[in-house]
Amino acid sequence: MREIYVNGQYLSEENAKVSVFDRGFLFADGIYEVTSVLDGRLIDFDGHFERLERSMAAIEMKLDIKKEALLEMHRQLLVRNSLNEGLIYLQVTRGAAERDFAFPPVNTKKTIVAFTQEKSLIKSKDAKRGLKIITLEDMRWGMCDVKTVQLLYPSLAKMQAKSQGADDAWLMRDGLITEGTSNNAYIVTNEGVIVTRDLSPQILSGITRKAVLQCAKDLQIKIEERAFTPEEAANAKEAFVTSATTFVMPVIEIDGKAIGKGEPGPIAKKLREIYIEESLKSAI
Ligand code: PDD
Repeated sequence: MREIYVNGQYLSEENAKVSVFDRGFLFADGIYEVTSVLDGRLIDFDGHFERLERSMAAIEMKLDIKKEALLEMHRQLLVRNSLNEGLIYLQVTRGAAERDFAFPPVNTKKTIVAFTQEKSLIKSKDAKRGLKIITLEDMRWGMCDVKTVQLLYPSLAKMQAKSQGADDAWLMRDGLITEGTSNNAYIVTNEGVIVTRDLSPQILSGITRKAVLQCAKDLQIKIEERAFTPEEAANAKEAFVTSATTFVMPVIEIDGKAIGKGEPGPIAKKLREIYIEESLKSAI
């Protein structure tokens, strides 16, 4: 059974509990991060920590745990749960208080919870096969650059994709793809240019996105950060998504139409390989 971190303590799953008055539960008033783990070490901990601070500042919350302490907690979780490959989920909420739309006093104790989850990240059937995606209207709120725990719409979109025999959905605002339900979206044009939506409040600034774009630059692949349509994606040479839990994952079909040859493309495969190689080198 796993040991879970709850507010400074490591507790067994059955004892790991938070209050029913927690604002994370009542208002989705909280921020989360997912850090991948390879070889018992953390991938891009610094990037996740910086984004956590940024997301919290955006919803007027201050993180009162130091980076070193948070890193030590992540490491403790890895050791206590003998996690070699998978992820650490971290959630910070504004804490428990009488239900009120107005925030409780700033000195209210925040709730910090973290747990490990085993997952085979490198050897992935999905990566071999490639994902089938559908497009759906992006009905999320307007601050998608803030990693809040309000994930109901992405969850509904994922279920909609599954009910249509696909794996995931790409979301659209004004006819243009923003991102996937829980990943950033990319196409490779017939000229070999990688296109991905530019950073704005309409998408999450992926930690994997930043690292993968750097890998692409190192390979001297041209990158355009701009919006694209589902039609452009359907006619692209390749497509893929990135996230902490998928790394680089090829996309082979959009709305029932094969992309390129309908199989994982060479650029996606190469980037996946290099991203994993670099991550293993820099993991802490
Ligand atoms: N999701 N866009 C959205 C909407 C996401 O939820 C995520 C991550 C990403 C990719 O970000 P990163 O590369 O930092 O993981 C983009 C995580 C993995 C999740 O919710 O499980």
